[in-house]
Amino acid sequence: MIKDIQQKILNLKKERDVCILAHSYMSEEICEIADFTGDSYALSVKAKTAPQSTVIMCGVRFMAETVKLLSPQKKVYLANPIAGCPMAEQMDKELISQVKEGLGQDYAVVAYINTTTELKTVCDVCVTSSSALKICRAIPQKNILFIPDINLGTYIKEQIPEKNFKLLHGGCPTHAKISEKEALAVKKAHPNALFLVHPECRAEVVKHADFVGSTSGIMDFAEKSTAKEFIIGTENSIVQHLQFKCPDKDFYPLSKDLVCHNMKATTLIDVYNCLLGKGGEEMIIDEETRQKAVNCINKMIEYGG
Ligand code: 13P
Ligand code: SF4
Repeated sequence: MIKDIQQKILNLKKERDVCILAHSYMSEEICEIADFTGDSYALSVKAKTAPQSTVIMCGVRFMAETVKLLSPQKKVYLANPIAGCPMAEQMDKELISQVKEGLGQDYAVVAYINTTTELKTVCDVCVTSSSALKICRAIPQKNILFIPDINLGTYIKEQIPEKNFKLLHGGCPTHAKISEKEALAVKKAHPNALFLVHPECRAEVVKHADFVGSTSGIMDFAEKSTAKEFIIGTENSIVQHLQFKCPDKDFYPLSKDLVCHNMKATTLIDVYNCLLGKGGEEMIIDEETRQKAVNCINKMIEYGG
């Protein structure tokens, strides 16, 4: 049954000139039919170069919006319209403009890509978890207002002591709920395992990591490592992908609660229905807003290499 639907999707996307992008948190069956899978940074870059006239994003809303910002001439759909990122909704344009005014003009607003299009219109540069360190080092400004994720911001700030960071209290509700106590308990249960952690986790968890990286960074590290056991400190779909990719290695979730229900909302049938024109939501962004919001994403790609 799954194979039948997958085959129908493969036929339809070819027929209709559609590129399917899937974030690494998607299920195995969605990743199998995607043209590209990857972390937020890789998907943004692919979105810019994909030759197809239509893109279906299997991920969350800010990811589909990013594709539309970069490729206004394409039709861009979010496969399941209920898939949002709660972190992206935590701060708005008014709040950030007010904070920036209070800080003075010499602060660069560095926004995690997990933000709304409207908020991006007042940001100087975007970053993702895999590019934040490089970009914060590379930008000319010494003073950085880093939004909205306090955990990613703290992780970056510690590695760039020569710059001044102002952080606000936002973050990912999924990663941030894991405590140091839970991390230490899992490490104790698997003493030979390397601990791989996403920087959206709290600093008290990140400090125990053997490797800190984006979703793709964690997957690459585990695949290339000569170690045999790993605790995965990010969304649990990554545990499953790695089990398929590396059957000779063992992967343990940091917590059974590391599940992003928004990322889990998209199903294979959603992708099929979207291709049939019976589901999904087309991203519409007015041109004036798009022009203001795309600058910080273009800067991200420029500095991120
Ligand atoms: P990545 O940068 O690893 O893709 O992270 C995106 C995300 O939403 C993680 O929760
Ligand atoms: Fe947003 Fe967290 Fe889900 Fe990533 S895991 S999409 S940051 S809520």
